[in-house]
This record gives sequence, C-alpha cells and structure tokens, in this order.
Amino acid sequence: MTASENAVLDYKALPKIELHAHLSGSISRQCLHEVWLTKKAAGETDLQDPLIEMPEGKHNYDLKTFFPLFSSYIYNLVNDAPTLRYTTLAVLRDFAADGVVYLELRTTPRAMPAAGLTEAAYVQTILDTIAEYEEEQEQSSRDLDEGRPGRLRTKLILSIDRRHTPAQAWRVLALAKQFLGRGSDNVVVGIDLCGNPAAPLDSQALSPVFEEARRVAGLGMTLHFAEAECSASDAELDLLLGWRPDRLGHVICVGERVRQQIVERGGMGLELCLSCNVHAGMVGGGFESHHFGEWWKVDEAVVVLSTDDVGVFGSPLSNEYALVTQHFGLTRAEICTLVRKGVDVIFGGEEEKARLRNILWVD
Ligand code: IMP
Ligand code: ZN
Repeated sequence: MTASENAVLDYKALPKIELHAHLSGSISRQCLHEVWLTKKAAGETDLQDPLIEMPEGKHNYDLKTFFPLFSSYIYNLVNDAPTLRYTTLAVLRDFAADGVVYLELRTTPRAMPAAGLTEAAYVQTILDTIAEYEEEQEQSSRDLDEGRPGRLRTKLILSIDRRHTPAQAWRVLALAKQFLGRGSDNVVVGIDLCGNPAAPLDSQALSPVFEEARRVAGLGMTLHFAEAECSASDAELDLLLGWRPDRLGHVICVGERVRQQIVERGGMGLELCLSCNVHAGMVGGGFESHHFGEWWKVDEAVVVLSTDDVGVFGSPLSNEYALVTQHFGLTRAEICTLVRKGVDVIFGGEEEKARLRNILWVD
C-alpha cells in the first residue's frame, strides 16, 4: 500500500464533519447506474447509462460542462419520490462509510410534477429519509455497541439558485421556515446561495429574501462566494457580505480588501473544496497553490474541508484530508485541531456541538 493510500485509510477512521455537500452532486455513479437499471427495466427512461454519460475516472468537469449535468441528466433520472429516497440513502451511507459523523447536506427544493411531488414534498421526502437512516443506525449500533458515539447525524440546508425568480427564492425561504429545526429533530438548519456563477445575480430579487432570512432566529446562512471571476465583482461580494452570512463557500477570487473584511468579521466559516476547485480548473497551479494554504492558519477564520460534489469529482472527505497532508504538510495534530475548530461553525445547535466535541476529543 502506498503512503497516500495509507493516509486515506487513516483519515477514513478519523471522525469528520462535512458542511458543504450538494445532495444531487453527491450521488455516486454506481448509485445512479443502479437507478438507471431499474428505470430501464421498467421502460421508464430513455437516458443513456450514467456510467457512459459520466465515465468512472472522469472528474474534469468545468463550469461549462458541470451545471448541465444536473439540468439535462441527473434531474431526469432522479425524478420521483422513491428514487429521491434511494439516492439520498446511498449518499448518507457513503458519507458514514467515509467516517463523517456530522453532515450538513444542501439541496435546491425541486418539484417533480410528473411524479406529483411538490417542493415541500421534496424536502419532506429527504427529511423522512434522513430520519429513516438515523433510526436504522440507531438499531444497528444498539446491537453492536451500546451508545457508540460515532454515528452520522445529518441536517439539511435549502439552496436558493442564483437563477431563481423572486417567487422561487421566497418559496425556498418559506420552506426553510416551515421545516426549521427545534431541538434535536431532523431538520432544516440553514439557507444557501448556489448555482452557476456565470448567471448574473439579480440583487433586487434576492437581497430582500436573504435579508429576511437573516432575521429568522436559528437559521444559518452560507453563500457560494467568489467562485469565479465572473461572480467576484466588488459589487457582488460587498452585497453578499452585506447579508451577514455565517459561512462562505469556495472563496476563490478574493483580493486583499475582501480578504481583510472576512478576517475582520472574525469566526467566519470557510468551506473549502480542493478537488472540486482543482478538477474544475477554478484555481490555477494545482493543489499546492490552493488558497487552503493561505487560510488554514488564519486564526480569525474557521476553515472546514468539504467535498462539494463527491459524485462528480470523486474525492471523498477522507481523501481531501490526505491531500492537505500531502500538499501542505499538516501534521496529524494539526488535522485534528482543524476538524475540531470546524464544530464552531455548524448550524446544528449547541447540543450537537457538545456531542461532536465529545467525539472529536479522542483521535
Ligand atoms: P441539488 O441542489 O441537490 O439538486 O444539487 C445540485 C445543484 O447544486 C446544482 O444544480 C447547482 O445549482 C448546485 N451546485 C453544485 N455544485 C455547485 C458549485 O460548485 N457551485 C454552485 N452551485 C453548485
Ligand atoms: Zn457548492
């Protein structure tokens, strides 16, 4: 076994938290293939086999080829409640098998009219599936080892897409309020801004929604931020920071002024996704030039390594940890400190933070 294979195994065993994972982008190709086989046998799809559409080992999707994968392919395959449940369960099992003990999964509420599913039913189906999975884990851990601490707990973040109309965006916020968590229920804990950075941001449409979201007690806010030059104008970044987000995703194209503002906020969560950024060509110079190298030592920010779309980019969270060890020389102790620090910026509440601090204390 090579040193890097050893490192991945080692980081699989390390309990980890994942805060930036899109549900539809986290479905493995194998799982999509299984869905396709079932639908094909039932005469329910004319789509090409996912293993041909997205061959194993192909990870170099860029901003032009990445977004159509969803609109023209994955959404046409995951198009009814049973498939949504099946794929969500597979995603949860994959994260758990990789040693993730706390997951904030995000998704854009999507109606499936042909299957009679509303946006609310889409969210409810995912929450029911999370509850089902947690119950299943509860049973098996009771059998195996009473009170085993390292079980996966999952919360949901609802995404607003940059291309959403005001009506759609308001509906997502209404759903977030409807399903907002109380106590330790399986629930929605936050709101996100995602979508193709090439799409212009309609600030007049979206600002009132995010400003209102900020006023909702207990609702976390995370934003895809400066993902590409086209979404990193001063005007856009100032607008987004003005919404007072708790966390930012990617943070690639930021100059010194904005960097300073992030530092001055203090305690801002930065969800950094190395493999996605490198494979999609969003950063130049490969892994060693990734801005993780600049941020991880900044005391005023909280860096959380995340996968973004593991089904597309093929790098599980354990591999992201192996990559930062390899390219930035973090020691085991520094890695453990990084994981623990991330707990400060989860949206899942104080009880969950206490559980995680307890688990992550032992390495
Ligand atoms: P879903 O929201 O669960 O359907 O996950 C897929 C969606 O997430 C895509 O249609 C995009 O809008 C969004 N998404 C996934 N990765 C990225 C990213 O890197 N930047 C912005 N949006 C993304
Ligand atoms: Zn993302």
